[in-house]
Amino acid sequence: MNTAVLLVDPVLPDPNVLQLAGKVILGGGLVAFPTETVYGLGANALNAAAVARIFEAKGRPATNPLIVHVADPDQALNVAALWPETAAKLSAQFWPGPLTIVVPKQPKLPDLVTAGGPTVAVRCPAHPVAGGLIRAAGVPIAAPSANRSTELSPTRAEHAVKGLGGRIEMVLDGGACPGGIESTVVDVTGETVRLLRPGLITVRELEGVVGRVEVGAREAEIARSPGQMAKHYSPRTPMVLVDSNEEGATVVAELRNENASLGWLTFGTFRGRLATVAMPTDPGRYAAMLYEALHASDEGNVDRIVVTLPPNTPEWLAVRDRLTRAAAESPDAASGP
Ligand code: TXA
Ligand code: MG
Repeated sequence: MNTAVLLVDPVLPDPNVLQLAGKVILGGGLVAFPTETVYGLGANALNAAAVARIFEAKGRPATNPLIVHVADPDQALNVAALWPETAAKLSAQFWPGPLTIVVPKQPKLPDLVTAGGPTVAVRCPAHPVAGGLIRAAGVPIAAPSANRSTELSPTRAEHAVKGLGGRIEMVLDGGACPGGIESTVVDVTGETVRLLRPGLITVRELEGVVGRVEVGAREAEIARSPGQMAKHYSPRTPMVLVDSNEEGATVVAELRNENASLGWLTFGTFRGRLATVAMPTDPGRYAAMLYEALHASDEGNVDRIVVTLPPNTPEWLAVRDRLTRAAAESPDAASGP
């Protein structure tokens, strides 16, 4: 299949381009598009055959449910059976934006979207291209990140083309995604709100709106939210995590003795010798650069990527989560494929 790559202005997208892409979605096709977090791979959420193609194109296990993207909270009621008070508070505060809310599913939504489960994850993206595409298509859009399963999420159209070119109809190229890591995922179906995946919206911000938030999925829920699996979001190059730039310098020296070629994401302004990238000391700015830096290290064909971890504090939760999963050696056998 020939994948059409269409340039689109990320701030004021051309309505004609959005119409074209919307038609592809309505016709059962797949379109990769930028969001404020990472690129998504979209299909009509109400068309089971189209949704099946997402799983096929990504090589994604059918046990991993998809996020449904909507243009506004009203459209969420097309896919959600109900919209609890907490969901209403959270969507009023954080939508459009990088927050995904898990609620009971509407029966008419194909089971494939939710991996057969009773809940659906819903998000209203803030990116003008994402919002414009959903409105142009006129249907909710199921969209995982636009990468092959377990690989790094794409933050540029080029990343999506590299992973999915030839497998999907269209890529909308709106440049780099400003957020850089995937949305925060919360489950509001229980007594207390539960954080299933940390992201750019922090626990502190959530707690400001809904009170206490429990962090982490229960064991039984991990299979339902495989973003919680140990290995996920990984570059091809093996990663080594270190706790400080000083420890990094030691590890780098050892690896160099073994003649390994290295990339090193240092933290802050530390100046190493070789291919080092000084990562920002602000969590949001770090997140915006993270996948980009890992993609670039992969491109550089190094043997190993050394990464100095940022501090273990609440504002770094999402970044440390992604780094830990990216560095994990194999899928967590206990939590499914
Ligand atoms: O920022 C994002 O969320 C991006 C952009 C494209 O919107 N999307 C994204 O999708 O990261 P994906 O499929 O790569 O990650 C979705 C996460 C997975 O960890 C999945 O297991 C979880 O959300 N998820 C989806 N539906 C769920 C449900 N019903 N219950 C619990 N977790 C769910
Ligand atoms: Mg993903």
